[in-house]
Amino acid sequence: MTPGPVQLPQEVLNNMALPMEHHRTPEFIALWNRTLANLKRIFNTEQNVFIHTSTGSGGMESALVNTLSPGDHVIAVTSGKFGERWADMAETFGARVTRVEVPWGKAARVAAIEDALRTHPDTVAVLCQACETSTGVLHPIREIARAVSKSKAILLVDGITALGALPMPMDEWGIDVLVAGSQKAFMLPAGLSFISFSKKAWTRVEQAKCPRYYFDIRKEKAANDNGESYFSSAVTHVRALELVLNIFLSQGLERVYGRIQTLSRATLLAAGEMGIEVFPESPSPSLSALVIPEGIDGQKVRAEMEKNDAVIVMGGQDQLKGKIIRIGHMGAIRDEDLLLTLKSFAATLNRLKPGTVSEERIIAALNKAAEVLRESPMVAMKVALA
Ligand SMILES: Cc1ncc(COP(=O)(O)O)c(C=O)c1O
Repeated sequence: MTPGPVQLPQEVLNNMALPMEHHRTPEFIALWNRTLANLKRIFNTEQNVFIHTSTGSGGMESALVNTLSPGDHVIAVTSGKFGERWADMAETFGARVTRVEVPWGKAARVAAIEDALRTHPDTVAVLCQACETSTGVLHPIREIARAVSKSKAILLVDGITALGALPMPMDEWGIDVLVAGSQKAFMLPAGLSFISFSKKAWTRVEQAKCPRYYFDIRKEKAANDNGESYFSSAVTHVRALELVLNIFLSQGLERVYGRIQTLSRATLLAAGEMGIEVFPESPSPSLSALVIPEGIDGQKVRAEMEKNDAVIVMGGQDQLKGKIIRIGHMGAIRDEDLLLTLKSFAATLNRLKPGTVSEERIIAALNKAAEVLRESPMVAMKVALA
């Protein structure tokens, strides 16, 4: 029940156990091209989408090295661990970084980004998470994109815990570079990142002077234009990706997003019934970060839930260590998995500090969650018949 890596559907595990196939066979090349075309439908873009054999951070690095030159000025929205990572990464490649610091748990203010763009008219790129997984907040990417599009800068979005979990129409919103990762809403193990560049971003790709080899998107594009990948493909991951995308597209993305939204709503309503505070001001549907009541150590809550109920959630990091728990809503989550998680959470709070949540409130919370979950059942892992 973590916000990634997520629980994998049995169908994905079975698919990944199939015999190895060479990535230059006609069969795999056909599958590769179908998969790239299907990814475009998730990104909602006319542009190419690329697959890197890397974790999400590799995709974030690719976004930077393919669009920046040392000395370039960059604005980085930092609202948690992953925003800080991207800002550090940009500095590592020689960018001059201005951080727009957002208190953890708050959503970025568009006006603050506009101010930073006015103060630094030489800015070539703005970096922002769609969902900052360390706090569970969802940033207003559509509005940020509108603001950035008025400048010469491009907007780079880390959509690692957003893409596939909620609509992120890249072209319509005007996102210039969008990055995603396999171990989140795509229900695969870690190991693939996905990335796409807008027309405005491609003009920077040609000029970028950052050192790049493995992530040089020009090489990958040339290979893809020829129907192939530049390096060896992660065949088992890509085959399982094809399966997941076929299921998503045949069942409809509305269903996929709807289920995640429903898991989120059920969790937030149950938390409300139990008197538990929600940490971020605008929670992402992909995960819920809940505040641990005063006097209880959140690290212990996490460990006890795992030991007693075999429920694995994530705690907080850095300044949030011991203060929140994070429950993921992506992956193969059955109704009973979420209900058990909520029950285990409440029981653990009571074990560590008796009387934290009354029996009546727990029952009311679970009933409410169960009622909401019925509205949008788990997405069936089969390709829907036309
Ligand atoms: C928003 C966000 N960005 C980046 C990452 C880093 O991805 P990876 O661990 O796949 O490199 C994560 C992983 O949890 C994430 O949630």
